Amino acid sequence: MLAVAVFPAKREVRIIDHPEPVIVSPTQAKMRVLDVGVCGTDREIVSFQYGTPPDGFEYLVIGHESLSEVVEIGPQVSKVKPGDLVVMTVRRPCPHASCVACRKGRQDYCFTGDYTERGIKQQHGYMTEFVVEEECYLSVVPPGLRDVAVLVEPLTIAEKSLEQLSFVQQRLPWGDTHRAVVLGAGPVGLLGAMALRIAGFEVTVYSRSHSQSEKNEIVSAIGAHYMAAETNSVEQMAKIAGPIDVVYEAVGASSVAFDVIEHLGPNGVFIFTGVPGRKGPIEVDTDYIMKDVVLNNQVILGSVNAPLHCFEYAVRDLGVAMERWPAAVRALITARYPIGQALQPLSSDAGGIKNVVAVAS
Ligand code: BGC
Ligand code: ZN
Repeated sequence: MLAVAVFPAKREVRIIDHPEPVIVSPTQAKMRVLDVGVCGTDREIVSFQYGTPPDGFEYLVIGHESLSEVVEIGPQVSKVKPGDLVVMTVRRPCPHASCVACRKGRQDYCFTGDYTERGIKQQHGYMTEFVVEEECYLSVVPPGLRDVAVLVEPLTIAEKSLEQLSFVQQRLPWGDTHRAVVLGAGPVGLLGAMALRIAGFEVTVYSRSHSQSEKNEIVSAIGAHYMAAETNSVEQMAKIAGPIDVVYEAVGASSVAFDVIEHLGPNGVFIFTGVPGRKGPIEVDTDYIMKDVVLNNQVILGSVNAPLHCFEYAVRDLGVAMERWPAAVRALITARYPIGQALQPLSSDAGGIKNVVAVAS
């Protein structure tokens, strides 16, 4: 079968012929892959800055944002049946008995770093025709979300962040935080803005985006406020959007993030989700930030990867978003490419919001 693979040692990315997987345990299901989203992580992998092939392979099949259809199930599978649409989680547990996180099925909090990730770290991914997976890593999607369910995985980033936010803010006896700023208007930022709107936040999206009008339209459609970094300084933004209870960072650039930290409101939470490339040191007024964090009871929180229940929350919220703002949700998907043209959306100059490889259409 066809697969998109990166060969890190040879510095090559190619469409290859990869063996079709078969069910080998009674709790596995086999899926036909429908859609695979392309994200910044994939672009880093195909530029050889990230990503590791499985042991014994010189290549890694990429792709971790997926939607597929169940075609076959093992005798002990009870959660899904052939024909069901599913999204698969990304991370698999490390092997160490001492890792309480992985042993409890919370490999998103793995202590050892020896977890694996499909399409990213030592496990082949989903940008291929068929995949076999344990049913415990599958999240079922209603058929009505067929066209947009490839957005579930990037939406899980917001779902895990919002869950942690609610845990942290249980420290406030009155329990409400309501003003959020989203940094960045890429897919993670826009999906985060949608999740925050659904959770009842007032949302400002602050972005350096070049395609402002397209993004502005999506942001307005969901009842959020768009502010372009080109025309509004961080101070101006904070004055209008604040006092800021939550910052949801989705730019992966540390300089703008640290500028905004200085404007986080009292008892505020700053959530980092981006993984910045190394661009060299920048100047940050650490005394000011430290004093402010302490005197305002602020929390700076990093979040990566999502557990299965956050996939379920994402499926639920994507359904809500499709009811409220169907055109805005659809507008997040810029283009679909057949697998034979998968290298196009993977190139660094592919524009738009979310590009998708439609493996089966
Ligand atoms: C994925 C996560 C993964 C992270 C680090 C992200 O793009 O969404 O599931 O844990 O990359 O590899
Ligand atoms: Zn672990």
